[in-house]
Amino acid sequence: MLRFNTPHNMTGTLICVEGIDGSGKSTQLDLLYTWLKSKKLDVILTQWNSSDLISDTTKRAKKKNLLSGRTFSLLHAVDFADRHEKIIMPALRAGFIVLADRYVYTAFARDVARNVDKKWVRNMYSFAVKPDMALYFDVSAKVSLNRICTNRQPKFYEAGMDMQLSNNPYKSYLLFQNRVIEQYKDMVEEYGLVKIDALESIHNQQKYVRQITTELLAKKGINLE
Ligand SMILES: Nc1ncnc2c1ncn2[C@@H]1O[C@H](COP(=O)(O)OP(=O)(O)OP(=O)(O)O)[C@@H](O)[C@H]1O
Ligand SMILES: [Mg+2]
Repeated sequence: MLRFNTPHNMTGTLICVEGIDGSGKSTQLDLLYTWLKSKKLDVILTQWNSSDLISDTTKRAKKKNLLSGRTFSLLHAVDFADRHEKIIMPALRAGFIVLADRYVYTAFARDVARNVDKKWVRNMYSFAVKPDMALYFDVSAKVSLNRICTNRQPKFYEAGMDMQLSNNPYKSYLLFQNRVIEQYKDMVEEYGLVKIDALESIHNQQKYVRQITTELLAKKGINLE
């Protein structure tokens, strides 16, 4: 049976955040991390594309724009698999709360937006543990662009410049991120992602995120109130 389709039975709890660049994921997850730590809980934070094994290779290849959609996808999957086995699984087995800043849905959204086959990507990640809760930060490409580009241009891959949708990085960003949003919107239904209105203030969003986390942890026998 595919691991990804069934709830895990480990003692830990896996919570992930998803959404396009600049949707406010890290802001909310970092605040949640600090709060859970202040409650003296065992909690770790793990980030997409951060495993030592592969991140240097990815960085180098990205610099040279050497990657086809499928190769890009494979590199991210290798990075994820390494982190999944070395960090996420052991922590969940040990009863930790694992906060993942992006999870497999990021690959499902971005890779498919890059024209990689939807089924192929999903299959590649079928070993992954199903999260206990996945939050989707819902924001338009325009708002996210304004947030991340207050002091810089969109980066090459952020803007999907490899897709050759437009020579203008700002235009390309909007076109590419809209393709990513389309994939996320479908996944809200498909995987039961919890939608967060990312236009709300940081404070209000955090209030809601803490509330649903409290409810989730209560079901696991962890009382936060
Ligand atoms: N609710 C909000 N309202 C206005 N600005 C916000 C809000 N939440 C976050 N921001 C700001 O938007 C920018 C992007 O936020 P953040 O880094 O949390 O996004 P992200 O989703 O983690 O992006 P990335 O995918 O690039 O890591 C930051 O400058 C942050 O301070
Ligand atoms: Mg972030």
